[in-house]
This record gives sequence, C-alpha cells and structure tokens, in this order.
Amino acid sequence: MEKINVLINEARLEKRIEEIAKEIENDYKKEEEIIFLGILKGSVPFMWELSKKMKRSVQFEFIEVSSYKGTESTGEIVMHKDIKESIEEKNVIIVEDIIDTGRTLTYLKEHLLKKNPKSLKIATLLSKPSRRIQELHVDYVGFTIEDKFVVGFGLDYDQELRNLPYIGYIGD
Ligand code: IMP
Ligand code: MG
Repeated sequence: MEKINVLINEARLEKRIEEIAKEIENDYKKEEEIIFLGILKGSVPFMWELSKKMKRSVQFEFIEVSSYKGTESTGEIVMHKDIKESIEEKNVIIVEDIIDTGRTLTYLKEHLLKKNPKSLKIATLLSKPSRRIQELHVDYVGFTIEDKFVVGFGLDYDQELRNLPYIGYIGD
C-alpha cells in the first residue's frame, strides 16, 4: 500500500462542516422541511456529520449513481437507485462528496427537477473547479481543492479507503 498524505485533517473537516450547517440553518425558515438527499456511497460520512451539526430535524433520502472506474472518469452516468418517496413541493439539498467534472450533478439536477421539488440546492464537501466540464451552480462548498485524486471521508479508490477519518491523497 502506498503512503497516504493528509490533505484535510479531522479538525478542519469538523470546523468547516459546522460552518456549513449554520449557513444551511440560516437559509431556511424554522418551520420548513429539509430533505438531505445523499448520493451513495461517498456522501454518507459528510451527510451524517453535517446533519449532526444541524440544530433542527432533517430528513434523509438516498440516490445511487456512478460514473467512475478507478481514477478515470468514464463520462457515463448510471443510475443504480432512484428515490422512492415523492419530493414534490419539498426543499431538497443534494449532498455530495466531491464535484469533479460536474457531469454527475448536472445529470442529477435535471433528473430531480422533473420531480418538482419546492427548491433544489447542492452541498458538496469538496470541489475541483479546474476539472469542470459542465458549469453548475453549487450552493454550499466545504473545500475547494486542486486537481488531486483524494480518498477518505467517504471518497474511494476502487471502493477502498472510504473509512479514513480525514481527506488524503496517494503518493506525492
Ligand atoms: P463528476 O461527475 O466528474 O463531477 O464526478 C463526481 C464523482 O466522481 C464523485 O461523486 C466521486 O465519486 C468521483 N470522484 C471525483 N474525483 C474524485 C477523487 O478525487 N477521489 C475519489 N472520487 C472522486
Ligand atoms: Mg460519488
């Protein structure tokens, strides 16, 4: 196993996630329902930590799509699991681990808007803007990072290393 370097440690992750939770709280009225829609599988740790920092109830839904093989984007998006519950007239926040080319989120936004939510926002822990192929508006971004392949805190390398408690990168 190659050495894994720490890019964002646990303390920085926790602090930034708390800030995002506060931003979200301020953007919605107290009585409004909020659905966190996590993209499996990478969003799970971020969604859990973010929801724990929220001082109000949020609902959980999940959708599963994939576009990646190893470190190479195939460009093709496959839907493995759609949502069963209706999101019509609901406030939905898509929760994602990382936005890279933007293809996954562009596809998902279009797909979800057809279900007529009241509002649809995007929260991502990481963003690599230099890799963007599809321009897209992102409402909440944890950290903007350079073009490095990262692992941990939900992010995988061929399904491995999702359980690292920090964001790391392999090699130099
Ligand atoms: P996009 O459609 O190119 O924006 O890709 C988004 C998806 O690619 C993410 O949900 C991740 O699953 C995967 N991905 C992109 N960059 C990385 C990375 O650096 N490490 C691990 N997965 C990544
Ligand atoms: Mg993903």
